[in-house]
Amino acid sequence: MPRGTFITFEGLDGSGKTTQMRRLAAWLTASGRTVVSLRQPGSTALGDRLRAVLVDSRSESALGPISPLAEMALMFADRAQAIAEIISPALAAGSIVLCDRYTDSSEAYQGAGRQLGSARILAMHAAVCNNLQPDLTLLLLPPLDAALARARRRNHRYAAAQPQSETQTEPQPADENRFERESDDFYARIHAAYLEIAAREPHRVLTIANDDSGDNSIDAIELRIRALVAPRLL
Ligand code: TMP
Repeated sequence: MPRGTFITFEGLDGSGKTTQMRRLAAWLTASGRTVVSLRQPGSTALGDRLRAVLVDSRSESALGPISPLAEMALMFADRAQAIAEIISPALAAGSIVLCDRYTDSSEAYQGAGRQLGSARILAMHAAVCNNLQPDLTLLLLPPLDAALARARRRNHRYAAAQPQSETQTEPQPADENRFERESDDFYARIHAAYLEIAAREPHRVLTIANDDSGDNSIDAIELRIRALVAPRLL
């Protein structure tokens, strides 16, 4: 059985990668391919628990501050489980695996954002993920200002939608804003790290710049992504 194709989507919060991944999955499925989609953190039973701890902005009021190294280790625990349960079996079966975030996110967010350094992240990747690398990474990188504005709008929309009552007893929806509440400097470091990763691995990482040059509608970006992916498929 030929090994399938492993494609990851990367970018800042608010870059539109999740929408684009969903559209690519629909297009590939319609063309007769078997597609397995997942996101990190999450997508396994263990990963969904870890996601609630890592991404929900209320977890630190329950657990206390999460140390940067604990955060990194939990991201890799999630990834190891996803590789074992989903990614490796799907690739062995010849499927196309689409993954919303992977180790580049750890390098950008924990390595650069939390300033743990790339070397530590790459060593974790070797130890915990057996160095499993994507065949292709699509990096959606709008200019920093635009991505920040979009992430902050999402954050405000969430805050406005929350009930004001202190006596609320209904279960609360997830508040996936723990990272989106970070400073602009944190995001600037992440943005720079993504550019460095793309420059270091130009064959694997293709950047969809999404700047002011050309048509940047969701439809236009979808077509650009299809054109980049098609030649990489077996
Ligand atoms: P999402 O909003 O794209 O689903 O990602 C969840 C958050 O988790 C996002 O803010 C980025 C962060 N993250 C890391 O910090 N390190 C990682 O390794 C991964 C996979 C995500």
